[in-house]
Amino acid sequence: MNKRLPTSRVDLLSELAPDVERLYNRHLESPRDWYPHEQIDWGQGESFEARPWAPEDYPVAEGVRSSIYVNLLTEDNLPYYTDSILSHAPERHPIRDWSYQWTMEENRHSMIMRDWVHVSRCINPTLLEDGRRVQMTRAEVPRHPDFAEMIAYVSFQERATQIAHRNTGAKLPKDDKMGRNVLGLIAGDETKHYLFYRDLTLAAFAIDPSAMTIAVARQVSTFAMPGTGIPAFTRHAVRIAREGIYGLGQYVKDVLTPVLSLWDVDHLCGLSKEAERARVELLTVVSTVTKTVERMADKATASVRATPVT
Ligand SMILES: [Fe+2]
Ligand SMILES: [Fe+2]
Repeated sequence: MNKRLPTSRVDLLSELAPDVERLYNRHLESPRDWYPHEQIDWGQGESFEARPWAPEDYPVAEGVRSSIYVNLLTEDNLPYYTDSILSHAPERHPIRDWSYQWTMEENRHSMIMRDWVHVSRCINPTLLEDGRRVQMTRAEVPRHPDFAEMIAYVSFQERATQIAHRNTGAKLPKDDKMGRNVLGLIAGDETKHYLFYRDLTLAAFAIDPSAMTIAVARQVSTFAMPGTGIPAFTRHAVRIAREGIYGLGQYVKDVLTPVLSLWDVDHLCGLSKEAERARVELLTVVSTVTKTVERMADKATASVRATPVT
């Protein structure tokens, strides 16, 4: 259904209410009722007072440690994400009920990750707590000017966190079955959250393609993984990218490309002049970033070939 009304005449939130209900019901029809306490091998835990943490407790690449640290602190920052999302969720609208369900599910991610982190000793617990204190007193999360940009952003963000947790899990030591299971459960939740927001945004495109094109174009040109409030975020982000867990390459291949192709931004028509301009800019940004990633991959391949095998 494409009503093609001018942006200003469409009340996107009211028009989308039936789609929110449909997608929320779809979400509830396949519940993921796992229990955090059942996933942890508590007997493996040791007192940090009796035996202080040391990197040798859990030998792993620094990029993987950075990823666990950043991903957990991002999950810790949930109160501010909920606040940001609820600011676009009016009372008595189903998006509010969905947002409560989403918050309930997201909340268990930091719980279970921290339990695993402490029992497995995979990262420094003092550094983690110091980071949490700094980050949470900053309360830095992306804020969005309207509902359209919020759902566009969260679609990308849920997909990005799914990829980051999945790729981190794949880099854990083979014998850490508990860690792989924990990150797999979280990635599974993120997948379902992504599907909700992705399909809600798709429904919004059908109602107001012009407003959604402008919103998506703005979000793509400014999208960054959450975490700017985390101490030394840039240093950790570089390590995570170098480890091949999450960087520009994953953003293009695993986030931008599948999401934009599902919304079919290449073939949108009937847009306002402003929206058509935004669509062209969006496609230019995507093509530029894709070329950058290809150049980076070529450079990496050339340097591997140039390195003599000893
Ligand atoms: Fe999460
Ligand atoms: Fe999430």
